[in-house]
Amino acid sequence: MPLTPVLTKRFGTDAPWLLENYEQLDGYAGLRKALRMQPDELIALIKESNLRGRGGAGFPTGMKWQFIPQAKPGEPALPHYVVVNADEGEPGTCRDLPLMMNDPHSMIEGIIIACYAVRAERAFVYIRGEAVHAIRRVSQAVAEAYAGGYLGADVLGSGVSVDITVHAGAGAYICGEETALLDSLEGKRGQPRLKPPFPATNGLYDAPTVVNNVGTLATVPAIVLGGAEWFKQMGPGGSPGTSIYSLSGRVKNPGQYEAPMGTTLRELLDLAGGMSRGKALKFWTPGGSSTPLFTAEHLDIPLDFDAVAKAGSMNGTSAVMVFDEDDCVVRATKKWSEFYKHESCGKCTPCREGTYWYVGIYERLENGEATEADLDTLLDLSDNILGRSFCALGDGATSPVSSSIKYFRDEYLAHLSGGCPFPGVRTLVGAHH
Ligand SMILES: Cc1cc2nc3c(=O)[nH]c(=O)nc-3n(C[C@H](O)[C@H](O)[C@H](O)COP(=O)(O)O)c2cc1C
Ligand code: SF4
Repeated sequence: MPLTPVLTKRFGTDAPWLLENYEQLDGYAGLRKALRMQPDELIALIKESNLRGRGGAGFPTGMKWQFIPQAKPGEPALPHYVVVNADEGEPGTCRDLPLMMNDPHSMIEGIIIACYAVRAERAFVYIRGEAVHAIRRVSQAVAEAYAGGYLGADVLGSGVSVDITVHAGAGAYICGEETALLDSLEGKRGQPRLKPPFPATNGLYDAPTVVNNVGTLATVPAIVLGGAEWFKQMGPGGSPGTSIYSLSGRVKNPGQYEAPMGTTLRELLDLAGGMSRGKALKFWTPGGSSTPLFTAEHLDIPLDFDAVAKAGSMNGTSAVMVFDEDDCVVRATKKWSEFYKHESCGKCTPCREGTYWYVGIYERLENGEATEADLDTLLDLSDNILGRSFCALGDGATSPVSSSIKYFRDEYLAHLSGGCPFPGVRTLVGAHH
């Protein structure tokens, strides 16, 4: 499977984040074309392309845009908002930050097109607070876009008005959950809202709001330029286009690999030079730590939303973390559980208490103090968190626990006497962020 640069096509060129260089390589050509279309035509085009959100859940983008209620003729137009989710906190995920650092204008162009399509005049980009470099880069690009006439009261003389505000979050994983993000943006404590109502009707300041991931919006200009049919030629029909797979862990050349949706781990390992220590693959995440683990038996599963779900996991954010035979799955799961315990916002009991109990049991496992009853408790906790939590953070916390016990129960049993037999993994999954 060859690399297929669409989102990454400007990576590695001369200072691609500068407006003048972006303009040389198709920059803002999609916007110019979009402004010659009707807003509803744009929504229809994105629907036709089958673009699915890159933030993790894979929700169809065109449908999301269509959900924004529009005023009927003669009715006053109420404010609508576009909010960009640039919080990127899922362990293992590293593609929105490289996108914003290398090619911030593609996201900005996508934002302007989305605003025009859903009749929003203001967008907010909510960027993870620790990512000061990205906040600076995007802020500079927004300023350049204003100076170039792409933003402001009269975008390219079209009469369309779009303003962008860049907002720095404070580094909480939960603020990537779209409704917690909206609360945080409003200046409140970032905790998820009850859904329904959904952001499409009651979003930012209770107004209709589209929340989209950085990569979703950065894909939009390419679809407007290339057309839906071009886009659908890449990847499977149900989830077409490309994905930036972020490969980390025991691979020779970790990094971002853009390839068609549905690329397999076997193909990605080829692109990344194979396993780093020459050892056998043991377990891996197809889409970040919130997605159930896969093993060597899943090397040929196409990594797209539908095929991964069919195989019992989730495509998530295409964050592929690779572990080999000398890595301890119990240790890795312990570190992930510590992350979820730390990031649990505390709003609901199953997640707040369950993740706390997870960590206590993993500490006992590592110290050789756990019993077989503790393994049952881990599974029991997972049953009580999954589907009973207020938001998907709780569900995600159960993924590594349940899947690692499913595939590696023997390794858990080996921990019951004597603790962890694999000291090597300590260097691999350290504290996140
Ligand atoms: C705990 C948690 C963290 C999330 N973090 C992010 C994130 O950092 N970036 C993101 O785009 N989506 C994140 N999501 C998914 C968002 O809630 C939402 O589905 C997404 O922003 C929608 O954009 P899309 O339709 O373009 O995929 C997270 C979800 C949960 C439950
Ligand atoms: S599942 Fe966790 S993060 Fe989500 S609302 Fe409940 S406590 Fe908060």
